[in-house]
Amino acid sequence: VSVVAPFRVVRQQTGSYPVWLGRRLVERIVEILPELGSSGGVVVLAADGIASSWGETVRTALGREVPFIRVPDSEEKKTVTTVEQIIGTMLEHGVGRDWLAVIVGGGTAGDTAGFAASVFMRGIRFIHVPTTLLAQLDSSIGGKVAVNHRLGKNLIGSFAPPAGVVCDFETLSTLPARELRSGLYEALKAGVLADRKLFDTMVSHRGAILSRDATLETVVAAAIDVKIGIVTMDEREGDRRRLLNYGHTIGHGFETATGYRVITHGDAVGWGMIAANAIARERGILAAPEQTAIDEAILSYDLEPLPPMDRGDVFDAITHDKKFRGGKRVMVLALEIGRCEVFDDVSEKEVELGVDAALGVSARTSSR
Ligand SMILES: NC(=O)c1ccc[n+]([C@@H]2O[C@H](COP(=O)([O-])OP(=O)(O)OC[C@H]3O[C@@H](n4cnc5c(N)ncnc54)[C@H](O)[C@@H]3O)[C@@H](O)[C@H]2O)c1
Ligand SMILES: [Zn+2]
Repeated sequence: VSVVAPFRVVRQQTGSYPVWLGRRLVERIVEILPELGSSGGVVVLAADGIASSWGETVRTALGREVPFIRVPDSEEKKTVTTVEQIIGTMLEHGVGRDWLAVIVGGGTAGDTAGFAASVFMRGIRFIHVPTTLLAQLDSSIGGKVAVNHRLGKNLIGSFAPPAGVVCDFETLSTLPARELRSGLYEALKAGVLADRKLFDTMVSHRGAILSRDATLETVVAAAIDVKIGIVTMDEREGDRRRLLNYGHTIGHGFETATGYRVITHGDAVGWGMIAANAIARERGILAAPEQTAIDEAILSYDLEPLPPMDRGDVFDAITHDKKFRGGKRVMVLALEIGRCEVFDDVSEKEVELGVDAALGVSARTSSR
């Protein structure tokens, strides 16, 4: 039992887990999760990029010797090969089935190490300590972990709820600006999906949020609540979880067409939302002032223009596979700020219109 009250307890069919939010929580991790300080086995799996900073902070906070394993945190290394390496290193360290893994890092390491933990000896318990904004408000919540296959992103994975999530806002202080922005587009997504107040806060407090003051913490809390609302509702109402794909269908096309390194995931989602809004506007389901408000909010967070890309590659990525050609696409479209819906009848022509609209806006912003 923890002496520190969690912000929320997420109740999913696959398991329930507490989420803690606050400052300097990493230093108090043993207070938060007393079993980390007891005699049971604990292994730290830390993302390469922050292993010597936040990874060390966690190791020190544990106050005892524990195996410390570095996890590659690039999208290219989010593979079964890396998972096998992590498992091999855990075996060398004598990690057993009753051990607890503490996973520290962004979504890439969280997904890779989380998947490794979920299959190691048929699954050991693990705790997420997300250190990017995106990981705090998105990937650490919802109980999904996955790695990439040569043929596509996140194709190998499992439903594996963590034993807990510890979000320390302090870790965001070292996050590069571009990674901060990447998470902010996902926060705007959450606002458009289900929380108009969150959206309005992000419009009116842009400067404060970019300077990472306390408003950023309220943004994280609100976005987490949107995600929790959707992943828990999902179990009652079928596939509402697909709502989380707002901005992701065409965004994925931009990401794939540019090779996953040039733009961040969040940038791609930002442009994907602008593309989806053009489709919704054309259908007459999203009013022009709402479209303008959403698009301007996204652009106002210094959304970088899209790099040059082959339009054909974008469509190939969206249609995935030749057999979808000519068929209808499933896309999430906004009806108003705070309300979106899943549509399963989006035509190829509409997808083209959306892609071209985003490329057009991007060309205009880059020439400003
Ligand atoms: N499982 C899910 O439900 C889910 C949901 C959304 C996204 N994802 C996955 O998340 C991944 C993206 O995660 P991400 O955006 O966190 O990127 P990331 O994990 O690649 O981190 C981005 C960069 O920031 C560095 N970094 C991390 N924390 C830092 C800190 N505190 N200070 C300084 N640098 C830091 C990392 O080393 C890395 O170079 C994708 O692979 C995506 O598929 C998963
Ligand atoms: Zn996303």
